[in-house]
Amino acid sequence: MIFLRPQMKKVGRILSSKIGPPLWLLAELTYRCPLQCPYCSNPLEFAQIKNELSTEEWRSVLQQGRALGAAQLGFSGGEPLLRQDLEDLAAEARTLGYYSNLITSGMGLSYERVASLKASGLDHIQLSFQDSDKELNDQIAGSHKAFDKKLEMAQVVKDFDYPMVINFVLHKHNIDHIEPILDLCVRLGADYVELANVQYYGWGLHNRDDLMPSLEQLRHAEKVTQRYREQYKQKMQLIFVVPDYYETRPKGCMNGWGSVFLTVAPDGLALPCHSARDLPITFPDVRTSTLSDIWYGSPGFNQYRGDAWMSEPCRSCSEKEKDFGGCRCQAYLLTGEAGNTDPVCDKSPHHHIIQAAVRKAQVCDKDVVPLLFRNTKNSRDLGVR
Ligand code: FES
Repeated sequence: MIFLRPQMKKVGRILSSKIGPPLWLLAELTYRCPLQCPYCSNPLEFAQIKNELSTEEWRSVLQQGRALGAAQLGFSGGEPLLRQDLEDLAAEARTLGYYSNLITSGMGLSYERVASLKASGLDHIQLSFQDSDKELNDQIAGSHKAFDKKLEMAQVVKDFDYPMVINFVLHKHNIDHIEPILDLCVRLGADYVELANVQYYGWGLHNRDDLMPSLEQLRHAEKVTQRYREQYKQKMQLIFVVPDYYETRPKGCMNGWGSVFLTVAPDGLALPCHSARDLPITFPDVRTSTLSDIWYGSPGFNQYRGDAWMSEPCRSCSEKEKDFGGCRCQAYLLTGEAGNTDPVCDKSPHHHIIQAAVRKAQVCDKDVVPLLFRNTKNSRDLGVR
C-alpha cells in the first residue's frame, strides 16, 4: 500500500508550541494484500506480523481518536477490503463524525460491496492503478486480473456518486506512459489524480535501484502533467509528487513528528508515521495504552517533537520550522541515525548518499537486478536472513 505522507498543507504546526491533537488517524487494518507491488511502503517483514486487532479493538481506537480530536480517518493496509468488518468500521466512523477514506487497490471490491460501504457512510474511495497498459499494470500488481477489475470498479465507484480519486505510483517502468495514464484518467472521469512517484521506504527502498526514474524521465512527466493540468483544469485536479531524491531540501514529513498524524498498525502498534516501525524505538500498543497516553505521553511520540533533538545543520537552520529537519525514517534508513538531518538536504553531511543512490539507479540494468515483489514468501525469506 502506498499512502501519501501528509506534508503539503501546513496546519499550524510550530516547533516550540505545546502538543496539539492528532488530526489524521490512519487505520492500517491489515498487512494482507492480494497484490504484490514492489514499491509497497509496508514493512519488509510484514509476513511475521500477526495478531490483527479485532473489530471491537478497532472500534475503541476510532472512538478514542475522535475524542482526541482526529477528524480525518483513512482505512489502509495491505488491502483493507480483506477485512470483512470494514463496513462496520465505516459505520462507526460515520457515527463518530469522521470524514472517512478508503485507500484500496480495488481487489475485493464489487458492486454489492460499494453499495454496502456507501450505506455504512464511507465518504471517499481512492482507487490505485499500476499503469494504463494492462500488461504492465498486471505485471507490477502480480495479478492478471488486476487491470480489468480496477476498470470495472472505477465505473462502480462513479455510479455511486463518489468523487473519482485515482492514484498512480510512478517509477522508471511506467513514468514514460504519463500521457496514456492521464488519458485513462480522463476516460474514467477522474476528479482527482495523484501521480505519486515512489517514496523509498519498505519494499520501495529495497527495490530502489530498479524503480528510480532518471531526471530526464521526471522532467518529461512533469511537463506533460502541466499540459494536462491546463487542458483539464475545470474537470480534473492533478497532484504530481516528485521523488525527494531529486530535491535539495527535505519534505516536511508528516507535517512534523507527532504533530497531526497518528497511525495504528494492524497489530495495534501506534506510530507517528507508517514507516516508523523500522526505527530502533519502542512504540506503544493500543492494546495496553490509551490513545491519549500514547499521543501525549509516550516517549516514542515525544522523541522528535520540537527542535531540542536537532543537531547541526538543522539546529541553526532558518528553514527548520518549514521542513522539521525532514523525514526521521529516511534519516535512519540512509544514515543509521534517526536524529540526523534528512540526507535529501544538501546541507546534510550525508547528502552524498542520496547523490550516489541517484547515480546508481541510472546505471542499474533491470535484467540484472530484478524487482523483488512484495509477497508473503519474499517477506519470510527476508525475515530469516
Ligand atoms: Fe517520514 Fe516516518 S516516513 S517520519
